[in-house]
Amino acid sequence: MITLSARLQAVASLVHGGGRLVDVGTDHAYLPLYLIENGIIDSAIASDIGEGPLANARKTLINSRAEDKIPLRLSDGLMNISPEEADEIVICGMGGNLIDEILSAAPWICRPGMHLVLQPMTHSEDVRRCLCLKGFEIQREFCTEDKGRVYLVMDAVWKDAADRKADGYYYFGSLIGQIGPAEKYIRGQLKWVKTRLRALREAQRYPEEQALLSRVLDYYYGEINESI
Ligand SMILES: C[S@@+](CC[C@H](N)C(=O)[O-])C[C@H]1O[C@@H](n2cnc3c(N)ncnc32)[C@H](O)[C@@H]1O
Repeated sequence: MITLSARLQAVASLVHGGGRLVDVGTDHAYLPLYLIENGIIDSAIASDIGEGPLANARKTLINSRAEDKIPLRLSDGLMNISPEEADEIVICGMGGNLIDEILSAAPWICRPGMHLVLQPMTHSEDVRRCLCLKGFEIQREFCTEDKGRVYLVMDAVWKDAADRKADGYYYFGSLIGQIGPAEKYIRGQLKWVKTRLRALREAQRYPEEQALLSRVLDYYYGEINESI
């Protein structure tokens, strides 16, 4: 039986199971293998853009005699996945902007019952904005710590209407007020926003981005004051 890292374990905890799952950017296929071995899903497509990662996945699956339950698929994002093959999609270990691109290139995901499990390594604001504007509702999000690094995981279901939120929400989601690794995550986000804003002000560049980042800070301090 495979043992997952704390990061992938957190991802696995958000999987509903019982449906057709696609793991996009599977690399070694550890996640779908774990989900099969633990009876959370019956089968899954493990896809990746690279032949090398798919070779890693093939090795993992052959060693665990699971190759007939987890077909491999060469695919850039969801390009080679058809709508009938997925009602649960996992994308983890990628930058938020790439996750946004992958989701945006597959408009068919916007349909009742679609469940997404996402773990952006960076720029979670791109992911939240993309989800809200496509009509997904973020259900849960939390952070976990793995070998000294903090990771964010979230899941979302499609609801229908696009929902435009405050810019600050896209940067912090529902993490404000959570304790544990989420506090570190928030500190990291704040530091990034402040550093970027200071640099832009000093360089007198991108006034629109400066205004956006100021709104993000106002949002954060407003939320903090409300919770006191
Ligand atoms: C850092 S690994 C993450 C592996 C695994 N999902 C995890 O979280 O442990 C990123 C994987 O995504 C794949 N990838 C990058 N861009 C992709 C794309 N556009 N479509 C599918 N896979 C992609 C890479 O080839 C690589 O195997």
